[in-house]
Amino acid sequence: MPRWLPALLLPAFLPFADTALAQDGGLVSEGRSISLQHCARCHVIDPANGLGGIGSTPSFKLLMTLPDGEHRFVSFFDRRPHGAFIRMEGVEPLTTLPPNAAEIRLTADDLDAILAFVQTLK
Ligand code: HEC
Repeated sequence: MPRWLPALLLPAFLPFADTALAQDGGLVSEGRSISLQHCARCHVIDPANGLGGIGSTPSFKLLMTLPDGEHRFVSFFDRRPHGAFIRMEGVEPLTTLPPNAAEIRLTADDLDAILAFVQTLK
């Protein structure tokens, strides 16, 4: 194959590249899908579930407007009500009581992805 052929073909594929993937190696879109999978049953995470969530639960966008919004996300698993049902890999659970909502198991990588996603909501 001529050396110039891949360069010629690249522009043809570029329009199909995921923009988020191109910008951050996919972390933002991964964080979004983790949030949709695990957090969207209580929180509005973005327009995808704009009419969803639980009324009394703050939306991700609202949380990110707070001066310490980012800090709240970094430590959310230690903040009420999450300690009761979030299990972070390598973090001692806050309680030995059974979870009060369907249990969510997350890793530090999942948290990194969620943080990358919520940065885009500012
Ligand atoms: C079972 C419902 C439920 C699920 C699932 C849930 N949350 Fe929450 N979350 C809440 C409620 C209710 C609050 C408001 C707590 C308060 O105001 O005291 C909250 C608050 C927060 C806050 C702000 C905490 C604070 O102290 O201000 C963050 C950040 C957060 N959630 C992130 C997440 C993320 C990320 C996920 C998914 C991995 C998630 N939540 C899943 C119910 C939930």
